[in-house]
Amino acid sequence: MCGIFGYLGGRAASPLLLEGLRRLEYRGYDSAGIAILNSKITVNKCIGRVADLESIVPAELHGSIGIGHTRWATHGGVTDANAHPHMSEDGKIAIIHNGIIENSRALRRWLTAEGILLKSETDSEVIAHLIHRAVGDGLSPVNAVRRALRHTRGTWGLCALFAEERIIVCARNGSPLVVGIGDGESFISSDPQALSAHTQQVIFLEDGDMAVLSPSGVETCRLDGGSSDASVTTIDESWGEADMGDFPHFMLKEIHEQPESLRQCISGRILKSDGNGRLNGLDLTPKELQRIPHIRLLGCGTALHACQVGRLAIEQLARVPALAHVASEFRYNDPVIDSTALYFAVSQSGETADTLSAVKEIQLKGGQVMGVINVVGSSIARQCGRGVYIHSGPEQAVASTKAFTNMVAALTLFSVQIGRARTLSVAQGKKVVQALSKIPDQIERYLANQGPIEEAVEAVKDARHVLFLGRGPSAPVAREGALKLMEIAYIPCLAYPAGEMKHGPIALLEEGSPVVVIAPKDKFRQKTLSNVQECKARGAKIILIHEEGDDEFAEEADIAIAVPKTNGILSPLLTVIPLQLLAYHTGLALGCDVDKPRNLAKSVTVE
Ligand code: F6R
Repeated sequence: MCGIFGYLGGRAASPLLLEGLRRLEYRGYDSAGIAILNSKITVNKCIGRVADLESIVPAELHGSIGIGHTRWATHGGVTDANAHPHMSEDGKIAIIHNGIIENSRALRRWLTAEGILLKSETDSEVIAHLIHRAVGDGLSPVNAVRRALRHTRGTWGLCALFAEERIIVCARNGSPLVVGIGDGESFISSDPQALSAHTQQVIFLEDGDMAVLSPSGVETCRLDGGSSDASVTTIDESWGEADMGDFPHFMLKEIHEQPESLRQCISGRILKSDGNGRLNGLDLTPKELQRIPHIRLLGCGTALHACQVGRLAIEQLARVPALAHVASEFRYNDPVIDSTALYFAVSQSGETADTLSAVKEIQLKGGQVMGVINVVGSSIARQCGRGVYIHSGPEQAVASTKAFTNMVAALTLFSVQIGRARTLSVAQGKKVVQALSKIPDQIERYLANQGPIEEAVEAVKDARHVLFLGRGPSAPVAREGALKLMEIAYIPCLAYPAGEMKHGPIALLEEGSPVVVIAPKDKFRQKTLSNVQECKARGAKIILIHEEGDDEFAEEADIAIAVPKTNGILSPLLTVIPLQLLAYHTGLALGCDVDKPRNLAKSVTVE
C-alpha cells in the first residue's frame, strides 16, 4: 500500500528518495512521485513503477530536502495527476499522504467554492490547500498542519514540505510513520525497513504525534499542542537486508526460507522434557491461563487462515472454546467483549488497519489483546504491548508464505502452553512439541523432492475455476491454497470444507474441473475420501495433497503430491507448502508478476 520516504540533510535527496521508494515497492503501488526542494519545489510523478519515475527525474535535479511517495489508488483512478506529491496553489508547500480523508468530498466542494482549482481527484490534495490557507492566515508550518488536520476526518501518515522554512512537518493518525535519525541528516518513512540502510536510530510516531525535520534536527510534539512521549529506539539491522539471493523471486525465496524461519520461531520456546511451550512475551502464569474462559483470534487474509488453524489447535489441545474472526468485520458488529477472555491479533506486517481497529475496539471495551506479529515495533505490536513475535524475518513478496507457517507454529506453541496449564498431559504435550521440532527438517525434505507440481500447474492454469477442499485443520489450508492461487495467478478459486461441497459448490463440477484436495492421514481422511469419490463421479480432476505412504488415497487422485507425516494438528505446516508452490509456478506459467500481483498491497493500511 502507499509508501512514504523523505530526506533532509546534506546529501542529494533525489537518489536517496528513489532508493527509499524502491525499498517500499514490495508494499504494492500503482504510481510514484517525488518533490525536491532547491530554490523552489520541483515535483516529478507518474503512474507505473519507481523505475518509470526514475526515467523522468532529471539527472540535474539538485536539492538536499525532499519527500517521495508510492501510491496505491483509493480515491481517484491511477493517473499521473493523482500520484503524490500534491502542491499548494503557490507551489510553496508539497504534501504526501497515506490513509484516507473521509470528509474529502465536502472539503473539495468547499475549496472549489472558495475558488481553488483542484488538480487531482484524490482525497489527499485537499490537505495541501488547507495547510496553505492556514499559512496565509499567518500560522507557522506546524500550526498550519494542525489546523488543516483539525478540519479533516480519517487517517493519515502525512508529510508536508515547506519551501520557505526548508522543513518537513509530519503527522500520524492511523497510518504508520517512522523518523530516522542520522548524522546531520534525518529521514521519514512509512516503514522502518526503508530506513535501516541509513540508520538504526528511529522514532516510531504514535497516533496524534507530529515531527518536524529541520537542519537543526528532529523535534516531536502532539497534534493537540502538547508534548509527545515519542523516544528514540534502535531497530534491527537485519530488517533492511532482504534481497533475492540466488532466487528469481522473493516469493520462491520465502517459500524456501520456511525451514529456517520456523526454527527461529520455535527456538528457545519448546520445553521438551515438560512437553510444554514457553512464550515469554505473553507474560501469563499457569494460574492465569487456567482462568481464561474463551479465546478469540483476529486477522485478515492469510493471517486469518492461521487464526483458523490456531483456534482448532487451542480447542484440541487445551479444550478451551476458541473462535477465529475476520478482523475487518469485528469492530463494526458491535462485539461483546469479555474482559476475562484472551484476544489475539495476528498479523505479519503489524500494520493492517482492519486488525489494528479491532485491537483498539477490544481495548476500548476492556478486553486484553496479545499480538502475534512479525514486524518488530509495528503499530499492532506496540498497541497490544504484549504478545509473540513470530520471527519470520522480512517478508517481501506480497503473497504471505513464511509468515503463515510461523503464525501457525506460534499459535500451536500457545495451545500447548495453555493446554499444559489445564488438562494436557506431559506425554500428550511431548508428542506435539517433538513433532513440531521436526517440522523444519521435514519441510526441507519436502522442498528437496516436491512431487508433480508442474503437472498440477498444467491442470489448473487454464481452468475457469479451481475448487479447494479439506476437513478439520485442512479446511483453512484449503482456503489458504485458494487465496494464494487466486492472488498470484488471477484464477477464480473457491475453498470449502470438503463435507460442505455437496451443499452447493458441487454444481460447478464438470468434466476436467480441477479440485485440489488436502487430506493428510488424520481422523478426517476417510470422510474426505468419500468427497473425492463424489467429485470424481462428476468428472473432476483430483489434485491431492496427501501423507507419504498413503498409497491407497494417492491412487484415487489424478495428481498426487506427498508431504511428510506429522502429528494431526501440525499438518497445515506441511500441506500448505505444495499449495504455495502451485500458486507460484502457476503465476509464473501465466506470465504474472508473482512478487507484486496487480491491485494488491503488502501492508494494507486502510480499512
Ligand atoms: C495473502 C496476503 C494477505 C495478508 C493480509 C493480512 O497472501 O498476504 O491476505 O495476509 O493482508 O496481512 P498482515 O498479516 O500483514 O496483517
